[in-house]
Amino acid sequence: MAVLTFANTKGGAGKTTAVVIVACELARMGFSVAVLDADPQLWISKWHERLGERAPASLSVVPYVTAANLGQHARKLRDEVDFLLIDLPGARSPLLAQALGYSNYVLIPVQGSAMDAEGATNVIELLQYLEDRADIRIPHSVVLTRVNPMVTTRALQSVKELLSSRRVHVLSTPIIERAAYREVFGYGQTLYTIDTDSVSNLDKAQQNAQALAQEVLRRILPYSGRGERTKSDQLKLSA
Ligand SMILES: Nc1ncnc2c1ncn2[C@@H]1O[C@H](COP(=O)(O)OP(=O)(O)OP(=O)(O)O)[C@@H](O)[C@H]1O
Ligand SMILES: [Mg+2]
Repeated sequence: MAVLTFANTKGGAGKTTAVVIVACELARMGFSVAVLDADPQLWISKWHERLGERAPASLSVVPYVTAANLGQHARKLRDEVDFLLIDLPGARSPLLAQALGYSNYVLIPVQGSAMDAEGATNVIELLQYLEDRADIRIPHSVVLTRVNPMVTTRALQSVKELLSSRRVHVLSTPIIERAAYREVFGYGQTLYTIDTDSVSNLDKAQQNAQALAQEVLRRILPYSGRGERTKSDQLKLSA
């Protein structure tokens, strides 16, 4: 199994939306998925509660995850489910280093249009610090979010080149800015429970979500099954 953390210390980067998209798609593929909701605003927990019986059966959400209980939940669930996704709060918090310590892979959502990379840089610097000081290498990728569907491939390519010149891997599939994502998740629906006529370009959002999940799966599979970070690694992290 694999633990996947979505991190960006800048609020509103699109973390929670990305977690919901990936969690739903992995569950649709037949994997068991748990989400640790470490955002005190409990956005995902409320969304999941509103979905009720329409939620994918293999998707569970743990609310009220804090620095005090994250380790306990992560250790228990990583042996029980195929994928454990962690949604962090926007601001910098002690939860970040802790969640990274349990992660097999980290996804860093960055708003493609604004190229608001400051919050991403914080996460990347922390990952670098862990590698330099504690010899813990956690693979990670930036996922561009809220990308305007009209944006030219060329503009997107230059963003990717900028990040790769800093040796940061960027997923090829960006999350497109779609009313479907905002409305579907804002109203306690999924891309597959909502009435097709009530939101435009639903099919495009579904295709985007599926392409993203497929790519995420390809990236994280080589790192799966190594959830057992050694005890000494954990000690190094908490030091
Ligand atoms: N791809 C998208 N298309 C349309 N709206 C989006 C998209 N991604 C995010 N949004 C909207 O942008 C806002 C912020 O997104 P989201 O809550 O996912 O960010 P976040 O990084 O989790 O924020 P926070 O740091 O506050 O937890 C929300 O209103 C969400 O509906
Ligand atoms: Mg959020």
